[in-house]
Amino acid sequence: MEYLMGIDVGTSSTKTVLFDTRGNIVASALEAYPLYQPHIGWAEQDPDDWWQATVHTIQEVLAKSSVNSHQIKSIGLTGQMHGMVLLDKGHNVLRPAIIWCDQRTQKECEEITEKVGKEQLIQITANPALTGFTASKVMWVKNNQPHIFDRIDKILLPKDYIRFKLTGECATDVSDASGTQFLDVSNRKWSDKILEILEIPKEWMPVVYESPVISGEISHRAAQITGLKMDTPVVAGGGDQAAGAVGNGVVKSGIISSTIGTSGVIFAHMDKVSIDPQGRVHTFCHAIPGSWHVMGVTQSAGLSLKWMRDNFGWAERELASFIDLDSYTLMDMEAKQAEPGCQGLIYLPYLMGERTPHLDPYARGVFFGLTAKHNRSHMIRAVMEGVTYSLRDCLEIIREMDVPIQDVRASGGGGKSMLWRQMQADIFKVPISRINTNAGPAFGTALLAGVGSGIYKNVNEACTATIKEVERLKPIENNSHVYDKYYPVYRQLYKALSHNFKEIALIQEELSGIEV
Ligand code: XUL
Repeated sequence: MEYLMGIDVGTSSTKTVLFDTRGNIVASALEAYPLYQPHIGWAEQDPDDWWQATVHTIQEVLAKSSVNSHQIKSIGLTGQMHGMVLLDKGHNVLRPAIIWCDQRTQKECEEITEKVGKEQLIQITANPALTGFTASKVMWVKNNQPHIFDRIDKILLPKDYIRFKLTGECATDVSDASGTQFLDVSNRKWSDKILEILEIPKEWMPVVYESPVISGEISHRAAQITGLKMDTPVVAGGGDQAAGAVGNGVVKSGIISSTIGTSGVIFAHMDKVSIDPQGRVHTFCHAIPGSWHVMGVTQSAGLSLKWMRDNFGWAERELASFIDLDSYTLMDMEAKQAEPGCQGLIYLPYLMGERTPHLDPYARGVFFGLTAKHNRSHMIRAVMEGVTYSLRDCLEIIREMDVPIQDVRASGGGGKSMLWRQMQADIFKVPISRINTNAGPAFGTALLAGVGSGIYKNVNEACTATIKEVERLKPIENNSHVYDKYYPVYRQLYKALSHNFKEIALIQEELSGIEV
């Protein structure tokens, strides 16, 4: 038997999964780590936590599966996008990684837009300057921590730091590189122009490959630490969204995915580059050579429900430790007690600012419409509905771009909830399907590894061999009718409150003395 391994360096944990070549999970392991928020809107992680979690989960998967590491044909990497890992000449990490949901870089975004020019920036990188993207993070270090900037030798993305630890190679793939804002997205290579204007030496950038291409092999040292076989090939892989899309079979037009992980993403495949002129959705290279994708991102999707659970869900957490159900399943059961529309309670999921559709780092979360009649069930359900309204915002823009929408596939942690899948069908007013696997990015990158090692001819063939639909939920008309009434109110709330969000940020800036 031959096997493929996928390693997903996520925001809340690293997950390592071993698959057989028909796509069945043989063993998986997960290790969580902290997210540091030194100030409101800041988000950092320690790259060594990712590495330790990678080592432990590989060891666990090998032990659980009893698979001989010689049978692992190749390995794929994926992970949270946009995060900035800085290495010095000796390959030491220079500072904690500033990750995708960090919002401190609004001023740097303005600087980038001014230096490059709005039109040229969109023409080359296919996107406006965004706080989430890597370039503004590097510029922040340049402006605020010059002593660190002066020592930079390499800039890596999260999964690429793990590649470096596993293989010794500094490399990335086109899909993840698209989220740096240093890539020429149409031509799938680093943009000399952008790097030159921002004065970032090209030598700092890793080698960029197409996703299924082999980028290096497991080193002697990494083999000793992890138990993997030395020289096992590691393919370039993909950012979590592109790899997740491969794992969902979003490899031709008409199929869209709706993923509720920490962030929430509506993702569509494109045969050619197409850009939203207002930059509300991102256009990136897909993990399939020669194709691109468009995606709308809501910053705090699963993160909203996790925030609710961590801060107010002690009862669910306690109970979950006694019975064989997890705390999210218990919250799901509570949410079911409330009726669609939550009797007018509306939640805006902007806990970490917002990307699609507002591109506003100052946006804040809101519960609106509370009455004495509302209870915990309404609050939990309102969070799920608010996240889904936000995903509908993404879908509406993709619709406006004339991207065909025939099949929306639910995935991510949120996609495991039948309630949340039905809610998506009702709010989007399209059928929502589910496929035979929910291993998302880890599965997608394992398929890319399978292509790189010659098990499958190409990405489409890999998906056809392993993915099938197992459920299709149709919208329930009565529910859609209710949601259609509340959705416009949800949309108006942001407009009504946006100046207050900024005002709050400025008050905090004044009180704390820290620029926002
Ligand atoms: C995509 C994005 C998130 C992160 C974390 O643009 O920022 O999906 O990759 O999941």
